[in-house]
Amino acid sequence: MAPVVDLQRSEKLYADDLYEKVRHAIPAIEWPVHAKEIDAIMALKRTRNAVILAHNYQTPEIFHCVADLVGDSLALAREAMTVDADVIVLAGVHFMAETAKLLNPDKTVLIPDLGAGCSLAESIRPEDVRLLRQAYPGVPVVTYVNTSAAVKAESDICCTSGNARAVIESLGVERVIMLPDEYLARNVAADTGVEVIAWKGHCEVHELFSAAEVRELREDYPGVVVLAHPECPPEVIAEADFAGSTAAMAAYVAHNRPARVVLLTECSMSDNVAIQYPELEFVRPCNLCPHMKKITLGNIRRALETMRHEVTIDPALAAPARRAVERMLAVK
Ligand code: 13P
Ligand code: SF4
Repeated sequence: MAPVVDLQRSEKLYADDLYEKVRHAIPAIEWPVHAKEIDAIMALKRTRNAVILAHNYQTPEIFHCVADLVGDSLALAREAMTVDADVIVLAGVHFMAETAKLLNPDKTVLIPDLGAGCSLAESIRPEDVRLLRQAYPGVPVVTYVNTSAAVKAESDICCTSGNARAVIESLGVERVIMLPDEYLARNVAADTGVEVIAWKGHCEVHELFSAAEVRELREDYPGVVVLAHPECPPEVIAEADFAGSTAAMAAYVAHNRPARVVLLTECSMSDNVAIQYPELEFVRPCNLCPHMKKITLGNIRRALETMRHEVTIDPALAAPARRAVERMLAVK
């Protein structure tokens, strides 16, 4: 039976002590609703022996208040392997939950909203990969983790934006097929000198940034340091000061402490990093990911109450998909 949590109680909440941390990102008027949900989630995590893994694009009340482990896709995949719990709730998108399940076949992996997809994962099917292999026999297939398990199962090795260069270089070949993000593929080709056969998939969030926008930002905000995610078009990367995964952007801010900075990526990323560095100015021309934003405190609580939606993977696909992910994780 689902444990019942009373959201109406009026005693002091555990979450109230967290507000100081997130007050720059969450208006005081919104806090009481969040605080009750946070307390309910903390209680349910204990009852269910569950952990919450949250991607850097989750909103601050999730990222800073209920998540046990946070990070980019690579960190979440690595952390998923170390989890000592019966249940993993993936506060992120479906491919991230599938990766966690691939690496933890014996644990229950839940995603709070099954509709949390990804335009890159939607852009390619397993039969497309098979056709590409026929067209380019012998050329290794490197697949971005932003894909379904069925597509991973057709691949030689996976990569994330955090290790794409290292993965390509680890293969020691002159030519690779790199799927499905055209821009990531072109950006990695420029970095490595390896010839890359790309697919025409794009991230619906990052494809919206333009080189003209970066030039305007530099005029409007003198001295601004521009960090861009490698899913942005190559002409945007060419105008940026630094390109890297969401974790690499956060690390850049931590090490360099730029007085004025812009992160060309999803909106919650700046909110989450800005909470840690209130002394820095974050310029915010961001774009929202509608899939990431499907995850809320409310549906995380419901996921733990009802144990839905459980992520499962066809065993015939799981073994080859896991091999491609594990091969990636073995690259240093
Ligand atoms: P990161 O691996 O850099 O966190 O990127 C994941 C993603 O979906 C970016 O849009
Ligand atoms: Fe997919 Fe782009 Fe959303 Fe990341 S930001 S989950 S790549 S649609």
